[in-house]
Amino acid sequence: MGDERQFRALKESCLTMNGISKEEIDQHYGILYKGYVNKLNEIRRKMGAVDFAAANQSYSDLRSLKTEETFCLNGSKLHEWYFDNLGGAGGEAVGRIRELIERDYGSYERFLTEFKATGLAVRGWVVLAYDLDDEKLHIYGQDAHNTGVPWGAYPLLILDVYEHAYGIDYGVKRAPYIEAFMQNVDWSEINTRLAKYHI
Ligand SMILES: [Fe+2]
Repeated sequence: MGDERQFRALKESCLTMNGISKEEIDQHYGILYKGYVNKLNEIRRKMGAVDFAAANQSYSDLRSLKTEETFCLNGSKLHEWYFDNLGGAGGEAVGRIRELIERDYGSYERFLTEFKATGLAVRGWVVLAYDLDDEKLHIYGQDAHNTGVPWGAYPLLILDVYEHAYGIDYGVKRAPYIEAFMQNVDWSEINTRLAKYHI
């Protein structure tokens, strides 16, 4: 139930990056991302007419809708944050996020090593998040949009490591894509998120 989710507009600067091509972004945003939003809206429309009396944990229409709602919702959100935190000047973090990284990881280099290595260790997403429980940064890894998601943590920097994110540009070579990602991070967007969350 609820209002239809709208497509998040793509930043123009995401189409002129070094190391991540326009073709890669066109397919990633135009086909994959929009597909998640469309399916989320379809699920939520069908939720309005589902038979709650037939609910069953082995198989039921409600089970399918509830399971795939979180998949499509996170698929939408994570991609929106991913594209929004690209298209920048890259390089090392600056501002408030730099302060927090150095506070919680000891050094920027230590953070970067763990962030990039996590990108090689998971099958879906790397999320630098601020966890409200211990009020610290954490680098979380996800194998799917809706698994490995900690509650109560605000996402700050999102890296997509599915092969569709780099297959056109790098084939199956993920490491150079992760390097290219870091060279196009928009750190001002991360600092905007910190301000929005009052961190
Ligand atoms: Fe993706």
